[in-house]
Amino acid sequence: MLAGAPEMQESAAGQEKDRFDHNWLTLREPADHEARASALNQRLVEWLPYNQPLGIVDLGCGQGSNLRYLAPLLPGPQQWTLVDHDEALLAAALQRCAGIRDSDGQTLQVDVRQADLRQLADWSSAIGADTQLVTASALLDLVSADWLSHLVAVLKSRRPAIHMVLSVDGQFGCSTLHADDELIRAAFNAHQRGPGPFGHGLGPDAAAELADRLQAIGYRVQSAASPWHVPTEQAALQRWLIQGWGDAAIEQCPDQADRIKAWTSQRLAEAGSTGFLLTVGHTDVLALPPMSDRDT
Ligand SMILES: C[S@@+](CC[C@H](N)C(=O)[O-])C[C@H]1O[C@@H](n2cnc3c(N)ncnc32)[C@H](O)[C@@H]1O
Repeated sequence: MLAGAPEMQESAAGQEKDRFDHNWLTLREPADHEARASALNQRLVEWLPYNQPLGIVDLGCGQGSNLRYLAPLLPGPQQWTLVDHDEALLAAALQRCAGIRDSDGQTLQVDVRQADLRQLADWSSAIGADTQLVTASALLDLVSADWLSHLVAVLKSRRPAIHMVLSVDGQFGCSTLHADDELIRAAFNAHQRGPGPFGHGLGPDAAAELADRLQAIGYRVQSAASPWHVPTEQAALQRWLIQGWGDAAIEQCPDQADRIKAWTSQRLAEAGSTGFLLTVGHTDVLALPPMSDRDT
């Protein structure tokens, strides 16, 4: 199951299928940061209290890319809880987030919590009365409708702001055309909606589904596009994406394996060539809790 790309890969060494390759997370970080919808950041900054401790929970934090992007934009003091089931990624996150400052130049308090997001009891207590913001980056499209129901139930009682970014929207493509582009796109999107570690993934439907559910409990929701534009200069990312789309498409449609392999070979040959560009559509969602006395 892939969150927008070939994230969960079974390694030759038999690594578990729901473990994310740290090379992949490192490779995608610049594209993620470039793509994020800055208008939503501004709205969030305006809503957050100033000069009060901010409790922020990052679900599926990986190596801490979301913190590295967001923390310098937000006021302090900030207290982050980074949640992931992967111990190695959590250790990398702690290391890579050391030295990050808030928008006032102050240090952050960063804690990690190793938890399985499929087990509600494991992670829901990370979101407490002092949590003003729950965020996640490149996670939402992996989760199932049931998982979203659990999240919304937790939010309903605690009412933090929600900032869920970089959920794939199902649109991706190359700057040149190939007769089998649509075959690959349809197979990949079907693969995303298929069985994965959280059950049937929401894939490209995740952002809209979250927005609908939060609106239903009174949240004020804004969504914005956050597409990747991956140029020739990021040839390694282009190759990783193409290979991942091809692998997922074959898994989804093994009867079309020859066509998909031919598509993948041609696209890999094009990767890195002058002017070759990949785009991957994403959506960011910001949801502010129902109006309270501190809103205007
Ligand atoms: C696509 S990565 C995104 C990582 C990070 N947020 C980023 O933007 O780079 C998804 C993350 O979700 C984590 N994850 C996947 N399944 C999980 C589970 N069942 N429990 C906890 N974390 C999980 C993975 O370990 C990985 O770090």
